[in-house]
Amino acid sequence: MTDPNVSQKAPRILCAGGAVQDIVMRVDEFPKPGGKVSATKYVVTSGGQSGNAAVAIARLGGRVKYAGALGDMEDEVATSITANFAREGIDYASAVRVKGASSSVSIVMLDHTGEKMIATRRDSGLSEVAPDNADALVADVDAVLIDNRYENFAKPVCAAALKRGIPRVIDLDRVTRPDDPLLAGCTHIVASAEALRGTAGEADIGAALKVLGKHLQGFLAATDGPDGVYWLDHGKVRHMPAFKVDVVDSLGAGDTFHGAFVFRLVECGDEVDAMRFGSATAAIKCTRFGGLMGAPSRAEVDAFLKERAAPALEAVG
Ligand SMILES: Nc1ncnc2c1ncn2[C@@H]1O[C@H](COP(=O)(O)OP(=O)(O)OP(=O)(O)O)[C@@H](O)[C@H]1O
Ligand SMILES: [Mg+2]
Repeated sequence: MTDPNVSQKAPRILCAGGAVQDIVMRVDEFPKPGGKVSATKYVVTSGGQSGNAAVAIARLGGRVKYAGALGDMEDEVATSITANFAREGIDYASAVRVKGASSSVSIVMLDHTGEKMIATRRDSGLSEVAPDNADALVADVDAVLIDNRYENFAKPVCAAALKRGIPRVIDLDRVTRPDDPLLAGCTHIVASAEALRGTAGEADIGAALKVLGKHLQGFLAATDGPDGVYWLDHGKVRHMPAFKVDVVDSLGAGDTFHGAFVFRLVECGDEVDAMRFGSATAAIKCTRFGGLMGAPSRAEVDAFLKERAAPALEAVG
């Protein structure tokens, strides 16, 4: 798919993993059990870790391929997801439509404080699927972004990307073992705080990073919502605060951070710069309703970074 608006020099990234249909409503207050409320806003869009990251990268001007297992050709949820990918200019030709399966769907309610309530009907029969030809998937990309919810898909993608020597960034969002070979095969491990704590068996983020760092060669960081991001720098824990914004909807903030991080990493090769860029992209997204429908353009992120002072980096321990 060639989009005339996308620079042919822009980073080309493969997002391999899960995509979901998000049905998002804004309400003033959540309904009580048995009660009804009116929604003031409504959007149906694609979501999920890889699906969200793909949209974030596309909005930034990246060339992005989505690959992962989706429901079959009769599944309206999967068709809605791919229709949104098409609108965003995401190449989804490598998505696998799995016979007899249906894609995941989430119903999300956001209240006036930005708090969320989410119900997800999980995919059926998608997590077994592996790519037909992982080497072909990674042949023309500058980096891959995977997650550990669809391991059968992620492992061969990671192995193929290793053969090419390109960055392999993982969104660690599900608790695993510190010696999980999938993590060891990645150049960058960016966890959610919760997944990091569960994986390391340590409640303190800094201590948890150090436990996990003993098992990994790659760059290791953890995002902690409005508290920003922590990472290991030569065995020391560092912290970058999040940008302060008026939060309307933090749905998919982590996925936005990951997408923007890998995009900028390809551009500049510097992790701290990439995390600042990821924080800014995620912060802007949080100020708008509608999950990734609120993801910003590159020009918006550049203007935001120009206007805001770079967050002061702190050594934590
Ligand atoms: N309320 C917020 N204000 C400003 N920035 C935020 C806010 N929430 C998230 N961010 C930015 O997004 C990054 C990732 O968010 P978070 O740690 O919540 O991801 P997550 O736990 O993976 O959640 P999810 O994937 O469900 O969005 C944070 O490190 C921060 O930079
Ligand atoms: Mg996440």
